[in-house]
Amino acid sequence: MPDTSHMTGRRILLGVTGGIAAYKTAELVRQFKRAGAEVRVVMTPDATRFVTPLTLGTLSENEVHIEIFPENEAGSWTKHVALGLWADLFLVAPLTAQTLSKLVDGACDSMLTAVSLTARCPIMICPAMDHDMYIHPAVRTNLDTLAERGVTVMEAEHGELASGLIGQGRLPAPDAIFERASELLASLDTARSGPLAGKRVVVTAGPTRERIDPVRFISNHSTGTMGFELARAAARRGADVVLIAGPVSLETPDGVRRIDVESTADMYAAVMDYREADVVIMSAAVADFTPSQPSESKIKKQGGDAALELAPTTDILANLGVSKADGQTLVGFALETENGLENARGKLERKNLDWIVLNNPTESGAGFGTGTNRVTLLARDGRSVDLPVLPKAEVAEAILELAVLNTALEDIDPTA
Ligand code: CTP
Repeated sequence: MPDTSHMTGRRILLGVTGGIAAYKTAELVRQFKRAGAEVRVVMTPDATRFVTPLTLGTLSENEVHIEIFPENEAGSWTKHVALGLWADLFLVAPLTAQTLSKLVDGACDSMLTAVSLTARCPIMICPAMDHDMYIHPAVRTNLDTLAERGVTVMEAEHGELASGLIGQGRLPAPDAIFERASELLASLDTARSGPLAGKRVVVTAGPTRERIDPVRFISNHSTGTMGFELARAAARRGADVVLIAGPVSLETPDGVRRIDVESTADMYAAVMDYREADVVIMSAAVADFTPSQPSESKIKKQGGDAALELAPTTDILANLGVSKADGQTLVGFALETENGLENARGKLERKNLDWIVLNNPTESGAGFGTGTNRVTLLARDGRSVDLPVLPKAEVAEAILELAVLNTALEDIDPTA
């Protein structure tokens, strides 16, 4: 039985677009209503071919809105504003490729698209379409763009599709959508009263890729897990979190704004846009070197050795350290295989950091690709805290408490 406590009294604005899965929204409306939420429905004109406004109107016990200029309704054209302001959550399910592209462009040719511009509440989308459409770069780019704007994207499921093909593109079951929406509302409840409410936290995660030629690059084994857990932990405490991620395949934590980057230069530019943040945690495994002259075309074998000339990348953290504002907290990571404490302390001083998180990838239970980590936190004021091997989510909780919130070690319960 899903937890329904965060739904009671909530105002859910459900947007339905014209895909075959639209019929599933009848059950979704019933679930929201059963949990005590108020539901209003907006549909695109095409959605009415798949499920009738009469069905969704009857189940939601509210009039369904479709056109932005309904016939015979003089004076009611500001409904798109009223509906947008009314909602606690604007959920679009299913979202077709067509309406997705309109949401990206800010088109407002129907009540649904207009409301997406007036809504001040969180927006969650459930894209659903045929597999080849779902994986098309145009659709993926549009989904990334909305995610960067802070929209929660619930990815489609893999399975049998209306076309008869098998692949990713199915709308998740109403139960699963309901649960994800409840989680989102619950996380917002916690966030509003959290200790980091009103603070901007920037987290970098994952590897960077340095281009050698159009098909090759230099990178490392970072999976981004540690950074994503840090972003999740900061959002749970109410921070406005910007997650700047190198190429990784992880889902964006709820309530986190994500910016995808590839190279160190991209990451540097993205971080600099947020250099005024209250807290910056550089957990990304940033490449230290980049090919001096990446080739425009694929480098061919020359029948002998090949040499690659490398140049140092910009040290993002060191740059932040130089311009560090009063009251800003800078946290770095050090990955050391020998003389860890000494090297990490050196980095902390050199880069003008408040804390550095030391880990050794060769220790068991630590480093890239494991679900756990064992770290030592070193503070500018000389404190040093050894944590045991813990799941990365708990390491993230401890780092936030110690380094960002200055909680005393004995008061931390990483499992809380
Ligand atoms: N970092 C950065 N920009 C870079 C390289 C690293 O911001 N171009 C950040 C990392 O995100 C991390 C910290 O700096 O927080 C790591 O410091 P660094 O001196 O790069 O460590 P190593 O790469 O391990 O350096 P070295 O090879 O000197 O040990």
